[in-house]
Amino acid sequence: MEKIRVLFVCLGNICRSPMAEFVFRDMVEKAGLSDQIECASAAISREEEGSPVHYGTRKKLAEVGISTAGKYAEVLRVEMRDEYDYILGMDYRNLKKLKERLGENARAKIGLLLDFTERKGEIADPWYTGDFEATYRDVFDGCHGLLAHILQNDLD
Ligand code: 4NP
Repeated sequence: MEKIRVLFVCLGNICRSPMAEFVFRDMVEKAGLSDQIECASAAISREEEGSPVHYGTRKKLAEVGISTAGKYAEVLRVEMRDEYDYILGMDYRNLKKLKERLGENARAKIGLLLDFTERKGEIADPWYTGDFEATYRDVFDGCHGLLAHILQNDLD
């Protein structure tokens, strides 16, 4: 069976979307589904291309036993439209840019990570607040809901 592929996207690919990538991968591994689901993350902006994951994200994830070693910010490429089944932004600006860059045909696979929770809306942005705890809570809930959705809809 083809793998389900998920791409998480934020502005810089150093705070929110790498957090989602590593939290979701950890959940998938713990659920024993690594051979069926894979994920990655990318940036809308070129600002942080090649940068390692932000210290705040690394510190929070280290607390829960997750390493982001080897991850460097990568910029969204238009080909990713065809390489992924779910392309999920963290906020409304990400969503708007994804729709502009990836075009009409990708609309069905583009959404927000918090669409998979009851509360919807935007993942808390730690860039100005420094609050990576709030980001982690949102990311964790979003990833949990996403995994449940994929289990229900895509895997047999
Ligand atoms: P991220 O955080 O999009 O969650 O990775 C940011 C990273 C870089 C910038 C803003 C937010 N920036 O302005 O360069």
